[in-house]
Amino acid sequence: MTSPPDQGCPALDTSGLSLHAQASQLRSSGPAVRVTLPGGVIAWAVTRHEVIKRLAADARISRDPVRHWPGRLDVPDGWPLAAVTFQQNFFNAYGSEHRTLRGRVAPSFSPRRVAAMRPLIRRTAEQLARRLAASRPGTVVDLRGAFALPLTMTVICDLFGVPDAQRQSLGTAIDGAANTSLGPEESRAVQADIAARLDELVAYKRAHPGPDLTSDLLMPAEGEQVLTEETLKGTLFLMIGAGFETTVHLITSAVHAVLSEPAHLSELRSGKVGWPDIVEETLRHEGPIMYLPLRYAVADVDLGEGVVVRQGEPVLFGFAAAGRDPQRHPEEADRFDPLRADKGHLAFGFGPHFCLGAHLARTEAETALEVLFSHLPRLSLADPDAVPERLPTFILNGLGRLPVVPLPAAGAAGGAPT
Ligand code: HEM
Repeated sequence: MTSPPDQGCPALDTSGLSLHAQASQLRSSGPAVRVTLPGGVIAWAVTRHEVIKRLAADARISRDPVRHWPGRLDVPDGWPLAAVTFQQNFFNAYGSEHRTLRGRVAPSFSPRRVAAMRPLIRRTAEQLARRLAASRPGTVVDLRGAFALPLTMTVICDLFGVPDAQRQSLGTAIDGAANTSLGPEESRAVQADIAARLDELVAYKRAHPGPDLTSDLLMPAEGEQVLTEETLKGTLFLMIGAGFETTVHLITSAVHAVLSEPAHLSELRSGKVGWPDIVEETLRHEGPIMYLPLRYAVADVDLGEGVVVRQGEPVLFGFAAAGRDPQRHPEEADRFDPLRADKGHLAFGFGPHFCLGAHLARTEAETALEVLFSHLPRLSLADPDAVPERLPTFILNGLGRLPVVPLPAAGAAGGAPT
């Protein structure tokens, strides 16, 4: 149970069922609108493309709760947003502290390093697609659980050297951190589970260092500072969580969009659109992150239209809402259209916290889709009329399951569906 919404401040949709509809209302109500978060916390929701972009690059807006959010002390015990908001890592840091810590891992996600990961991504996607193709004809399979999740989990866990035996439990614990509908008791259990899983991982990597990014964080190079235990674990939570929780939705939502409209498959076959178009349009139309808690005003910020965010007040950006802003996309912003020339979005954020994994996410999604549809050109939705199950969260914007029927075609090959 959470506190009832503050009078006049709508509760942000914790169920994930009406995220876009609510964002549309908030967008038309002002440049920022006060909303009630779980636990009765009041924050400003920003859903307009131009305002998010402006504020994301504004030094008067911080991501550091310790320095810039006095209200953190009033947050109730068992707050479901605590894991994301209070973990010590560069995501929840500001200024030079953010830059130093980010600089430590950034080189591992450069376009060159990501290009080198391509063969592993392809190999993993092919194994999973072959397994799907081997299912009994007519079998209904959950594409998220059988393809998108194991692919994205394998890629990020291989990078961070997470042993096979710990992957599933770590993934489940991190999933819990994004569930905004949990009550205090469940949230406390999730937070304890995350702490235990991260302790387990760090202990394992101390005993078994290897050529992976966790071992790099444990053994700083010359001139690099030794991370505190809390920052080390917080950074692993950030990197591993950001690595799979988001890309899994990009792939699943893209498959859903392609299979929902036969014209898209024809456009792909004829070469009118390519997989990068599908990926970019999915990022615009169904950005995998909706509101990622939390930011704080370092000083008063006047947004116009009578809205002033006061120093110390929390702010949330609606990254997925920006892609559907009719001011930014006057032509049918709510329609998935991979042919549109301008697919501008803020799905990866903007400014100093711009997503570190954007190259990796795009590479994974493009490879996954190409491999999936070349192995399964007759892939179809199990029930085209069904509304797919959504995850109970306003942090992520994604499907809980995507039931499909994976029918292979003998001799099918190539990037576009045949
Ligand atoms: C489709 C997939 C992805 C989406 C939509 C996405 C989205 C985002 C967004 C919106 C932010 C900015 C957060 C903010 O400003 O508040 C962000 C930051 C971040 N992302 Fe991603 N992300 C994706 C994939 C990845 C992957 C694969 C990684 C790999 C590890 C990753 C790592 C990070 C990190 C470390 C940050 C924090 C950057 C900072 O604070 O400086 N992301 N991401």
